[in-house]
Amino acid sequence: MASNPKAAGGLSRRDFLKVKVGTLSLAGAAGLAALGRKLVKGSETYLPIIGAAGHEHHEMGTVGTVSSSDFDPIAFLSDFDWGVLTQEGGRAVRTYDLIASDKEIEVAPGVFFPAWTYNGRVPGPTIRCRAGDWIRVRFVNAGSHPHTIHFHGIHPVPMDGIDPILPGGGFVYEFEAQPFGLHLYHCHAIPLKRHIHKGLYGAFIIDPPQGRPAARELTMVMNGFDTNFDGENEVYAVNTVAFAYMHRPIPVAVGELVRIYLINATEFDPINSFHLHANMYKLFRTGTDLEHFELTDNVIMGQGERHVLEMVFPSPGRYMFHAHQSEFAELGWMGFIEAA
Ligand code: CU
Ligand code: CU
Repeated sequence: MASNPKAAGGLSRRDFLKVKVGTLSLAGAAGLAALGRKLVKGSETYLPIIGAAGHEHHEMGTVGTVSSSDFDPIAFLSDFDWGVLTQEGGRAVRTYDLIASDKEIEVAPGVFFPAWTYNGRVPGPTIRCRAGDWIRVRFVNAGSHPHTIHFHGIHPVPMDGIDPILPGGGFVYEFEAQPFGLHLYHCHAIPLKRHIHKGLYGAFIIDPPQGRPAARELTMVMNGFDTNFDGENEVYAVNTVAFAYMHRPIPVAVGELVRIYLINATEFDPINSFHLHANMYKLFRTGTDLEHFELTDNVIMGQGERHVLEMVFPSPGRYMFHAHQSEFAELGWMGFIEAA
């Protein structure tokens, strides 16, 4: 039988997330990193540090909070960057500034990750415009490695963002925004999975010319973090911070239309998913059609896939949502939408 290649040389992802029985106070567990650092490999019995407290959801998750002064997951949900709007030759032009830089970010209480960011945050700004607008993105690489911005959607090949911009350099990407839908942008420097995983990605929303029905709109980027650089993620989330929306449920109104722009930017794992409890949503695949594809409560998404979800919460309560891959959920990708 083949042995686990990591068993001999280092700690696997599961090892990282386990801690010796006895070192963990279930009620007062510290953050992931603190426990991870205490880990010593040996023959002791191990206990998962997340979800170990029992079967009740409120006992899952991290203890303590991530400072939101740098990055606020609640604010991020509805923070849309429409650029600076000007008129040139009778057409709408939207100008955005994106700067790549190295920055350490906190992805769970006490767990810091040496990220590469657009504008100092992960995900980068949610770029938004209308179909037919002229998009001008002024990119500066203030990071330590070559980077680019590659946009999904339709644009001329020279604007495709596959040629690396060296540190200290810059480039202006410009094109007409087409087609309407939910797209994304990310760095396309080599090695690709490392550059994306380090945090260089964001949502790119092109509204239909006539817009969509009024709704409470939320951007959710599913992501993961390989905190020990073994090629596997140790922390999963929507919008970077593990369990952020468990600790601070997303407030919505009963009866209002809620629209989620959902993107899978997870590296290393081939699929991710979005499962909603006690309710169902209309799924608009890639957001490129105004007729919904299906009514569901669970969608499976490959890397780079994205969909628009619409739902109404019929009665008050905390509606759980999470990856249907249980492992991802237990490692941070779980939250609540609170209808009131
Ligand atoms: Cu890059
Ligand atoms: Cu892509």
